[in-house]
Amino acid sequence: MRTPYIAGNWKMNLTPSEGVKLAKELAQATKGCNAKVMVAPNFVTIPGVAEVLKDSHIIVAAQNMNDNLKGAFTGEVSATMLKDLGVTNVILGHSERRAIYGEDDQLINKKVLLALAEGMDVDLCIGETLEEREGGKLEEVLTTQVTEGLKGVSKEMMKRITLAYEPVWAIGTGKTATPEDADSAHAFVRSIIEKLFDKTVAEETIIQYGGSVKAANVKELMAKENIDGALVGGASLSLEQFLPIVCFDKQ
Ligand code: 13P
Repeated sequence: MRTPYIAGNWKMNLTPSEGVKLAKELAQATKGCNAKVMVAPNFVTIPGVAEVLKDSHIIVAAQNMNDNLKGAFTGEVSATMLKDLGVTNVILGHSERRAIYGEDDQLINKKVLLALAEGMDVDLCIGETLEEREGGKLEEVLTTQVTEGLKGVSKEMMKRITLAYEPVWAIGTGKTATPEDADSAHAFVRSIIEKLFDKTVAEETIIQYGGSVKAANVKELMAKENIDGALVGGASLSLEQFLPIVCFDKQ
């Protein structure tokens, strides 16, 4: 039985005061809902949000971290610093990190292994571009991203990994993958996990869908067998839009 897991990736939005306000509202409003909930604020918004959410049911994640623990890496943030603030989770391999900041599977894998070694849970993002999908490369891209991203990860460590399938063409575009397309991509990802680990790990791994998830489509997506959660961007930035997603089962 996989517990539904709804996460909000705030990206480079919300100032520290706006983030704290939303975090307080969310902690109250989502109390009675069944899904596991996470928010990922920007680095400067994390301290305030982590403080507000420290005794709540909401998990605080970072959107990225460096692949080293400290040193001369101007502008970067380490797992040690995040943990000091009470951050327990980190999103890695987001398509914006891959496409805009040139992160490749090797670097992402290094970060995954470091986060796990530091006791953090990981939300590993994967997904194809439109060009790759139209060129018939969906399975190849997903296989490479999952296999390379999880290199060196043990079966035991897989309990601390969530995968987020985010087709790049559906992010921030208003175009959601159809629930059927998303479910079939998720089923394929689960089959890769089975090959890399075993059937039990594949059945237990939470796979979130991300890409224009909103209150109006979350129920349909979550009804699919292989969709276990959502990684939400734009619609996670206000209580009004995020609450019905987190509490999709009460809609
Ligand atoms: P949108 O929900 O804005 O499409 O963003 C999805 C995403 O990239 C979450 O990480």
